[in-house]
This record gives sequence, structure tokens and C-alpha cells, in this order.
Amino acid sequence: MESVGLRAVGSHCSLSEMDDLDLNRALLDRPRLKIERKRSFDERSMSELSRHDSPRGRSVLDTPLSSARNSFEPHPMMAEAWEALRRSMVFFRGLPVGTLAAVDNTTDEVLNYDQVFVRDFVPSALAFLMNGESDIVKHFLLKTLQLQDSEKRVDRFKLGKGVMPASFKVSHDPIRETDHLVADFGETAIGRVAPVDSGFWWIILLRAYTKSTGDLTLSETPECQKGMKLILSLCLAEGFDTFPTLLCADGCSMIDRRMGVYGYPIEIQALFYMALRCALSMLKPDGDGRECIEKITKRLHALSFHMRNYFWLDYQQLNDIYRYKTEEYSHTAVNKFNVMPDSIPDWVFDFMPLRGGYFVGNVGPAHMDFRWFALGNCVSIMSSLATPDQSMAIMDLLEHRWDELVGEMPLKICYPCLEGHEWRIVTGCDPKNTRWSYHNGGSWPVLLWQLTAACIKTGRPQIARRAVDLIESRLHRDCWPEYYDGKLGRYVGKQARKYQTWSIAGYLVAKMLLEDPSHIGMISLEEDKLMKPVIKRSASWPQL
Ligand code: GLC
Repeated sequence: MESVGLRAVGSHCSLSEMDDLDLNRALLDRPRLKIERKRSFDERSMSELSRHDSPRGRSVLDTPLSSARNSFEPHPMMAEAWEALRRSMVFFRGLPVGTLAAVDNTTDEVLNYDQVFVRDFVPSALAFLMNGESDIVKHFLLKTLQLQDSEKRVDRFKLGKGVMPASFKVSHDPIRETDHLVADFGETAIGRVAPVDSGFWWIILLRAYTKSTGDLTLSETPECQKGMKLILSLCLAEGFDTFPTLLCADGCSMIDRRMGVYGYPIEIQALFYMALRCALSMLKPDGDGRECIEKITKRLHALSFHMRNYFWLDYQQLNDIYRYKTEEYSHTAVNKFNVMPDSIPDWVFDFMPLRGGYFVGNVGPAHMDFRWFALGNCVSIMSSLATPDQSMAIMDLLEHRWDELVGEMPLKICYPCLEGHEWRIVTGCDPKNTRWSYHNGGSWPVLLWQLTAACIKTGRPQIARRAVDLIESRLHRDCWPEYYDGKLGRYVGKQARKYQTWSIAGYLVAKMLLEDPSHIGMISLEEDKLMKPVIKRSASWPQL
């Protein structure tokens, strides 16, 4: 138990950790007015500290309850954002349990934006945690855990026990004066796809909560332990798989409509890796816990090897694929998945800088989706799925391709868009996902928090600052839209909601991360030294 569980954190941190914090602060180049703030701790220092040091590492008292108490002049948008975030809060029998996806009073067409989405709540939760308000996060984690228990089926087919809801709503009975929860596991969603990402986000959030509060009692409850195991049992079961990556249907994550991301999408693989590592730090090695831990360890090993080798693309790798032979048979094959060089799209040759790289969108049999996806690449950095060199290369590419990937509004969900015949075939003629709109190359302000986390992790906060400046010049004025359209992200999205909660919360998280980079510990994992990178060095990597 001692070596794997999350530890309660003390009010001091180790030397190496202080170095990290100081480095980050120096890099941030901001007035160093608040040196003694609440801190997140890395794995190492957490396991070094005994749980007797402090029952609660982070005291709610030593964090500001609102940005107004910041020691330097906060941007006026911060106060507005906090107000809007609080307006979106949802209560169940008097307790806060989440935030609505959007509170857009400008339209009657609510669709399901009046629900609490698991993935959408993550930035809200992080903002609350960073502000010392952990109750709403705890209630959310517990309520969604209860929902996991409910029966879920599509027609006559029953879904796996571990599936977490995509969203839920609180329905109030005014006559009986009672609240009850109604969840959607994909059985009413467009396309009837279960949200594979929800369970992963749930585990990631449980760790963030534990890190932030130092409260181990939640993650150690039999209910939470069981919840984690149920989620993971869906992914760790043995079957027909020949790859350690997770096979998915289109639309099972943030991109929840058909966009040609079926197979092994990077977003899911990065979240899977991160969730496995978070679970490893929280699971108790008792009973079936030990077996689960063993399975996780093996899977992590295989998954990081697979991802770092086969999903990684840089100039050198692109050139290698360009020269691939096909139809190779046997163990000695170089082109293991039989990717046809002719399937490399033209744009990628121009897009790829000599320095820089990224994890491609998808790798499967004779299938390589060369599109760049923001979320998967940022989560790869946060979780250390990317090696330090790969993380640097991802940031290099982002700087190099700033106009394409950031343009006038951070951040493109993917690049480039699908057009014409390809759009017709791949999206099934989806009118919402037309070129440079929505999931098809649209720009999503919520991704700012993940970009900022990646920037801080790689010691490049100045990139995040540039992105925040862009957001601050428009987001509030445009009423916090869900997404922007166009090659540069200049236009408010065709069907974008206004007052989209995760656009609001994402901004707050980015600001608070920049203000106090030690918050990064909540959502970042240190490099796992046991998993040695096995990839070849390429031209885009700094020479050692
Ligand atoms: C859209 C997005 C999805 C999000 C939901 C609620 O369906 O594609 O990622 O969770 O809206 O905001």
C-alpha cells in the first residue's frame, strides 16, 4: 500500500520540488508577490511525505476565494468569469453537484446543454479546486459514481457496468419537492455512442481532488476504489486486441459526432494513459486491487511503447513513412501496419517543420490519420505520455504553426479540416461539421486550459500568455462562445452556444495556472523513469 497510494501532503515540499517551482516562477516573469501559496506536489514528494505530516495538505484558508483578492491587478474578465461560472452551478437536494454545459439565455434551443457533462465539468472542477472550493467537486464525484451503478441499455442491449455517464440532469418534482438525477450514457445521445472519455476524466478528476485537498478519505473509500476498477475493467479485459491502444467508435469523446476518429483516436489513448497512471497512484493493493494494479502496469508499459513509436510523427519519421515498403510480412516488417505512402496527404509535407513533431490522430491497420488534434497532444504532455523531447517538439510545432493552430482564437480542435468529397464521406455530410467549423477545424476556447497546462509543464508559459491575450481581446465581448469558425478562428461559430461554461472555466483555469504554476501538480504527472523511451532520435530533437 505504502508505495502506490496517494499520500496526504504536508505543508512543506522537497528540495527538488522547490527548484521546479522556482524555475517555473522565474520563467513566468511576473511579480513574485505571493511566494507562499497552496501547492500541488509531484508523485515523488508525495510518497516521501508520511501521511502524519498533515491531514489536509492544502488548506482552504490559504487560497483566495475570489480573484479579487489576487495580489496583482486581475483582468476584469476574471470577475465576470467567476460570476458566470457560479451562475451555471447545479444543485441536488441543496448541494452543488456540477455546472451546466451552457447558460445561454439568447436561445430557446437548449438541446442537452442544460445538463452537467462529465467532460465539461472538468475545467469547472479545476477552477473550484484552485480556488479552494472542493465541495462541489466531491459531490460531483460521488453523484456520478452513484449513476455508474444504474442500468444502462440501448434497445435490448446492456452496456458495461463501468460506463460513466456523458451527462446528467437534476429533475425537480415541485409537488413532492424532491430532486432526482437522470443520466445519459449515450443511449439518448446523437449516434448512440457511449462516452469513453467520461470514466477517464472521472479518475483524473479524483486524483486532482486528492492532490489538491490532501483528502485521501474519498479516493480510499470502497465505492471509489470499486468505481475505478469498474471503469478500468472495461479497458483492460483481454480480447481480440493485438494493440495496447483502445479500440473506439466514432464520436465517443469531446468530438461526439462522426468525424472519422473511430479506431484508435489520440484523444482517447492519451486520456487512457493518464487515467491508468492516476488510478495506479490511488488504487489499494488489496484483494482484486492487486490484480488490477498488475494489469495497469503491464498495459502502461505496452501503451507508452506503442504510442511513442507508432503515433509519433516528425520530419524524420514522415520521411521514413514516405519511403515505406508495403506488403511486408513477418516479424521483421518495418511498416508494421501496412500504411500506404500514397495515403499521406499533401498538406502534411508542408505543415511539418524541420524542428517539431506531434502524435498523429490515429494509427490502425493500413490507416494513419495525419491530422493534428489539440486535446490528445496536450494531454500527452500533461500525463508524460510524451517523452520530454517529444513534449518539447510538440511545443516547437505549435510555435512554428501558430497561424494555423492558434490563429486569432485558441485553439483549433484539429488541423486541417475536411472538405468536399472527404467531408461528405467521413462526416456523413454533417451540416454542423462543415469545414473550419465545430469539430471540423473549429477553434475551441476551452482548450486554452490544456494548452496552458502543457506550456507550464514544458517551461514555456510565454506561449500560453500569447494565447490568453487573444482570448482576453474577444471572449467576453462575444459572450463566451462554445467555438469559433474559420481558418483563423475569427468568426463566432455558426451554431455556437453563448455562455458556454467550459469556455468560461477554461479561461479561469488558464489564468490561475499562470498566476500560480504550482497548481500544475493537480493535472500533471511526472515522467515515469521506469518506462525508458525506445524511440529513435530524429532531426527535430535537440542533440544530446
Ligand atoms: C458538444 C461537444 C461536447 C460537449 C457538449 C456539451 O456536444 O461536442 O464535447 O461535451 O457539447 O458542451
